[in-house]
Amino acid sequence: MKPAIASPRAGCALHRKGGARRGADVTLRALLLVCLLISGCARSESQTSAAHAAGPLIPETATMSAAWQILHDPIADTSLAGSPLTEQIRRGYRLFTNTTGEAPALAPGRVTCANCHLNAGQRERALPLVGVAGMFPEYNTRAARLITLADRVVDCFIRSENAPERPATSAPEVLALSAYITWLGRGYAVGQNPSWRNRNVIAKEHLIPVAQLDPAKGQQLYAERCTSCHGEDGQGVQIGDKKAAPLWGDQSWNDGAGLSRIYTLAGFIRYTMPYLDPGSLTDEEAQQIAAYITSKPRPSFAGKEKDYPVSGTLPPDAVYYRR
Ligand code: HEC
Ligand code: HEC
Repeated sequence: MKPAIASPRAGCALHRKGGARRGADVTLRALLLVCLLISGCARSESQTSAAHAAGPLIPETATMSAAWQILHDPIADTSLAGSPLTEQIRRGYRLFTNTTGEAPALAPGRVTCANCHLNAGQRERALPLVGVAGMFPEYNTRAARLITLADRVVDCFIRSENAPERPATSAPEVLALSAYITWLGRGYAVGQNPSWRNRNVIAKEHLIPVAQLDPAKGQQLYAERCTSCHGEDGQGVQIGDKKAAPLWGDQSWNDGAGLSRIYTLAGFIRYTMPYLDPGSLTDEEAQQIAAYITSKPRPSFAGKEKDYPVSGTLPPDAVYYRR
């Protein structure tokens, strides 16, 4: 992953030199780029101090200018010995940040793990995976049984990555990803929830009943706040070397994925997007937008009827299970 948009620091230098381009030839994309660089500049100072407060994670207030910052990069980390385990961790990191390129058979669409787990799973309130390995095995309501970390990774492949077939828990890709996530969990107590886990949720008292959400309202908000980077068609706009995964359609995650649930998707959007101003949406706006995105078609997960086998556990926001 070579940053085509420079780091915030380089962005600042460019800005100070007055390098921001203007003129008739400025396309929307160039404008976005400039926008990114300037916002990186304006915020880089506060970002640096916030980085310490957030401990081992990129802070939730950081903008897209920090998208290329990786705090724990096993490829750059020279303290890692040249052992078979190091090779596995590095392979896992590559898979995590370029799933479609590294494992095309298991990720046939355009969705990479790090599109959702931002900064390679190291950003606050963007489904961070630092320190979570020690929480497995864990009870899972959807499966109605105890699942291991490898089971969880398999689940991500068959749902979020829309893999055509279920990989074995001993598949090389699953083992490598487990190695990377376990490496992110080193030094943390087993069985003790890290304080930053499960924070992509909207408080219960602010949840709006699904029947009261209005996809048309969501569409309006989406047009105002999201299309510059995700496109009106939801398929993603190229920005430097970044392109968000398709939010719907054949190349997106399937309807059995976590992000296909309205409240889960809203909890992600609420704290991470729009990427130049994360946290600026209200709880209601995030839910309206999520209702719009989940009103769209996406691949269907073949094993859906086996999910939530215990009666009464199907969550109210699992809208694709009710159609
Ligand atoms: C489309 C977005 C998306 C993609 C892509 C994605 N995930 Fe996730 N992942 C989620 C969400 C949302 C959750 C939270 C649990 C839930 O509700 O499903 C999650 C949870 C997890 C967890 C459990 C975290 C915890 O604290 O318990 C792991 C581990 C994980 N994902 C790994 C991966 C790996 C590895 C990949 C790539 C193969 C991946 N994810 C791809 C959205 C995604
Ligand atoms: C400034 C550009 C920008 C804006 C504006 C923006 N996003 Fe994103 N978004 C991204 C990028 C880039 C990613 C992928 C992150 C990565 O891979 O590092 C992303 C990822 C996502 C994801 C995870 C899955 C995917 O498609 O990659 C969702 C969901 C999402 N954005 C929703 C939204 C919504 C809803 C809005 C409007 C409220 C929004 N975004 C506004 C740039 C943006």
